[in-house]
Amino acid sequence: MDSKLFTPFQLGPLTLRNRTIRSAAFESMGKDFGPTQQLKDYHVSVARGGIGMTTLAYASINRSGVSFNSQLWLRDEIVPALKDITDAIHREGAAAGIQIGHCGNMTHWSTAGSFPVSASNGFNLYSPTFHRRMSHSDIHQTVKDFGRAVKTAHEAGFDSVEVHAGHGYLISQFLSPWTNRRRDSYGGSLENRMRFMRECLTEVLEEAAKLKMAVVVKHNMEDGFKGGIEVPESIEIAKEIERLGVHGIVLSSGFVSRAPMAVMRGRIPTKTMGYYMGWNEWLQKIVVSLFGQWMIKQYDFEECFFLENAKKFREALQLPLIYVGGLVSREGIERVLGEGFELVQMARALINDPSFVNKMREGDLTTRSGCDHRDYCIARMYSRDMQCCHNCTEEIPERLWRELKKIK
Ligand SMILES: Cc1cc2nc3c(=O)[nH]c(=O)nc-3n(C[C@H](O)[C@H](O)[C@H](O)COP(=O)(O)O)c2cc1C
Repeated sequence: MDSKLFTPFQLGPLTLRNRTIRSAAFESMGKDFGPTQQLKDYHVSVARGGIGMTTLAYASINRSGVSFNSQLWLRDEIVPALKDITDAIHREGAAAGIQIGHCGNMTHWSTAGSFPVSASNGFNLYSPTFHRRMSHSDIHQTVKDFGRAVKTAHEAGFDSVEVHAGHGYLISQFLSPWTNRRRDSYGGSLENRMRFMRECLTEVLEEAAKLKMAVVVKHNMEDGFKGGIEVPESIEIAKEIERLGVHGIVLSSGFVSRAPMAVMRGRIPTKTMGYYMGWNEWLQKIVVSLFGQWMIKQYDFEECFFLENAKKFREALQLPLIYVGGLVSREGIERVLGEGFELVQMARALINDPSFVNKMREGDLTTRSGCDHRDYCIARMYSRDMQCCHNCTEEIPERLWRELKKIK
């Protein structure tokens, strides 16, 4: 088959053995903000399964950016344990990446250890929590923390960092007019709303250049609701990211506090989600179980669901673009690569089957992952470790299966 899928790619200073990346998808396998054997085992299995690079998800650049105990907080203390993971990934021939970010108004006092911050004051119903506007000194410190996180990632053996600038996390909270109502030099015009992102990326790029690390940015093509960022403005932001000199952009969409399923598409099993929530979150547990289907906007899933929008960015930009969104088959991946995207990322296909890339190498165009988008992994991730319903190590109660089987 004449395909570039299994050809190497030069992403800045990093050579990838093929065009596939395991996208940052929160494993929820950490403990006390650090890695575990389970997190290692999962990423090593993806590396062994043939991936070009696997990405550890959602590591916070400082304590105030953490929203789950099972999430990574990138700090010196966990460097040896992370190094053990990256060494094992490298032994399997894959590169190791880590997504870095700050959850902003998606954090909670109990995890962040301080009052949640964001671009503006407000209340985030999703968390649910009040949050305060960041001062200039908070901003300055956070920018520095982004740079320091790159250094820590390098010491831990990572080859690449992915800056999370989408999905309604802190950088995206500054970019989006829906969450940024500031009247100073960080709010108002697009130029001002981009300032925080620009400062963070400049710091990251400076540090990464010294350490010869690749830098990619996860960017929102649109927030997914009226009043958020839409495609034309997002193209301008992407051009600015390109001008700053990052090595690649991951094109995604959606805003977790408003339209979480716009990120992943499909229907989230909310009864299952409520079932796994602890009674310490009793109000959320009851509300999600009873009213989740009406509260969380549902989307139909289709393969390559971001492709039409992503093509508009392909036309406007020259740097390497990384497609993510609804890839579960070799046929879909070939279609995306044929449209001029240099790399592809996958989350759910590899949650279902870490060896999917090797299966594609050995198979033909009809090779598919066993993921059928019942999205149990998403419902479960909020309170337990991320697992697929088709190979879960725990027995799934019959009443949850009844909900999962209804999802098509
Ligand atoms: C269980 C789960 C957790 C996720 N966590 C993150 C995350 O931490 N950071 C992020 O940028 N995207 C996250 N995502 C989104 C994925 O990276 C990806 O953009 C999205 O799922 C679409 O890709 P897919 O169709 O291959 O799953 C998550 C997705 C899933 C399914």
